[in-house]
Amino acid sequence: MSKPPAPIVLGIETSCDDTACALVDGRGAVLSSVVSSQLEVHRPFGGVVPEIASREHLANWPPVLGSALEAAELELSQVDAIAATRGPGLIGSLLVGLSLGKALAKGLGVPFYATNHLKGHLFSPYLRTDGGPSRPVPDRFVGLVVSGGHTVLYKVTAGATQPIAQTRDDAMGEVFDKVGKHLGLAYPQGPKVDELAEKGTGGTVEFSVARCSDGSLDFSFSGLKTQTLRELQKVVGDGSAVDNPLILNVLRSFRQAAVRQILDRLERHWNEEPFSHLAVSGGAAANRLLRRELPIWVARKKVELALVPLEFSGDNAAMIAYRALQRALSADPGDSWSIEATSRIEVGA
Ligand code: KG4
Ligand code: ZN
Repeated sequence: MSKPPAPIVLGIETSCDDTACALVDGRGAVLSSVVSSQLEVHRPFGGVVPEIASREHLANWPPVLGSALEAAELELSQVDAIAATRGPGLIGSLLVGLSLGKALAKGLGVPFYATNHLKGHLFSPYLRTDGGPSRPVPDRFVGLVVSGGHTVLYKVTAGATQPIAQTRDDAMGEVFDKVGKHLGLAYPQGPKVDELAEKGTGGTVEFSVARCSDGSLDFSFSGLKTQTLRELQKVVGDGSAVDNPLILNVLRSFRQAAVRQILDRLERHWNEEPFSHLAVSGGAAANRLLRRELPIWVARKKVELALVPLEFSGDNAAMIAYRALQRALSADPGDSWSIEATSRIEVGA
């Protein structure tokens, strides 16, 4: 096979519990994207155990890298640039991927791009799942990242990102996880809560949409979480099956309120400063109700929506490689060898 258009970027993502490698070509086409999940290893603990996660990354990266190269029909020597997540995330996990990335880049003599995980998510809606070139990234767009650790609304202008709002407490995915944990569901609870909410038939409770008293567009989900747990307590009592219709209805109302809050912030931002492109990404962008409601909202506002493909909504390395590709294409030479992993990064950094 002839070499796809340069630069070929190898992405490495190890910020939490997924070990991922991907190859993206110079047109932003995803040549391969391999994600090895550690879910089964962490499940007995009800959440991700950082020490175990780092050890798993160490064991998992060689086969994951091998599979990514094989699926792309490429040799490591054909890679033109390396990207690895530098944060935010679990420090021990980040160190594995970042060190691997630096070592590969040094060995190959190619540039190294230490990538902000959130910015990886931010541009991921423009990736295609059919192996075709990425969709054109508009010069100006509003980006919403909803994940397990973050809920951020960004304004992106000519590649420069400016956060407009972020959560003051829990992230959207996190509240879904916490509500599910309360019901005894296994980690990650978000997708399961979404599935159960889908089965609810009536709204028993009308949860209000939280707003900040200072008029900011920041998000807040912890009040909704507390209210939901209280309502669940009323119907669960001393324990009942999660498919109890009363539980399903509380979950349905909970999910509606969470999605209403997202739409409320989009609407208010649009009223303040109308925008024409919206890109929505992150693990919680897999939420079924959110994926149904967003197209309705954008149609009303005549906004063009780029909704991340389900394949790239959760953590993956294609988004990390793609973000680095954009930097490479804008003549950014990459990062120095001294760049460090950081568990927390300001959302605007
Ligand atoms: O982006 P991601 O894979 O990891 C982080 O960067 O955090 O997001 C994972 C989060 C978890 O909290 C998970 O429960 C949530 O996304 N999530 C969902 C759904 N699918 C995944 N939350 C709500 N509804 C879903 N369908
Ligand atoms: Zn993520």
